[in-house]
Amino acid sequence: MALFCRAAYLLLKPSRPVAACISAAARQYSSGGQYDYIIVEKRGEKQNVGFIQLNRPKALNALCDGLMSEVGQALDDFEADGGVGAIVITGSDRAFAAGADIKEMQNRTFQECYGGNFLSHWNRVSTVKKPVIAAVNGFALGGGCELAMMCDIIYAGEKAQFGQPEILLGTIPGAGGTQRLTRAVGKSLAMEMVLTGDKINAQEAKQSGLVSKICPVDQLVLEAIKCGEKIASNSKLVSAMAKEAVNAAYELTLAEGNRLEKRLFHSTFATEDRKEGMSAFVEKRQASFKDK
Ligand code: CAA
Repeated sequence: MALFCRAAYLLLKPSRPVAACISAAARQYSSGGQYDYIIVEKRGEKQNVGFIQLNRPKALNALCDGLMSEVGQALDDFEADGGVGAIVITGSDRAFAAGADIKEMQNRTFQECYGGNFLSHWNRVSTVKKPVIAAVNGFALGGGCELAMMCDIIYAGEKAQFGQPEILLGTIPGAGGTQRLTRAVGKSLAMEMVLTGDKINAQEAKQSGLVSKICPVDQLVLEAIKCGEKIASNSKLVSAMAKEAVNAAYELTLAEGNRLEKRLFHSTFATEDRKEGMSAFVEKRQASFKDK
């Protein structure tokens, strides 16, 4: 707690440059060293929501290698932290992220990309067991849209714009855009976006099922944290099972998916939290989950 008070103090202290303060605040949480491109904190009344803010404003949060490695490190830390039950990833009001870093990619060769399996470390976002919420204000383009889609829930600010403009750069989405966008919004809209590079706004994203909620720009992060708090108040163990089951809908046939769901449902009966949840209902009291 003292660390976070100090972080807040550093952020508010007027004589320090904001970026330096943010860096200091970010360093408070990390167990694994310093963060240069992201701010990492715990948020929520019970400090049970992990918060990652992409912080490369001059480049509109372009997702350079270093930034995505730091996101992976922060996710590892939150995954290992028993006090954290959900994670929020956000950017700035202007940009969630304007894509992979084009300047960093510009001179890469095929051999480097193929040999080094370029962008494969981004997958960490989609393998986290704890639920992850993307809070998207401004641009979510290319890799930025793909990063949001790797998360489990997307909330959008009223001015958000989503797009896969890689075609305009002579390439195609490389971090799941063609796959996750198609599953989220359907073939026709996904094709149109991927083939023209056109963006869609928050309302279109909501209508098409890409995002679940639209919020005023200045309320977006608060709303995402609130959602994270709700999730974190449930059993972390059972939340992970629920997440696994929903994600399986993207990978398995209906019969296979239903079978997996049934097995996971049965498995909840091996947990103390399932007993607690049902006992609390019958006894007309609030459940107190222990993640066991
Ligand atoms: N990579 C590197 N730098 C970027 C960037 C990116 N993806 N997007 C923006 N920037 C930089 C700009 O170069 C500029 O920096 P300088 O001031 O040093 O020139 C700064 O951010 C501000 O950008 P703009 O001046 O262009 O701002 P704008 O308001 O006029 O336009 C924008 C905003 C429409 C988002 C425009 O910046 C843009 O089109 N960005 C590129 C979007 C894009 O093509 N994304 C896909 C990248 S490829 C990819 O992501 C592959 C994948 O699948 C993983």
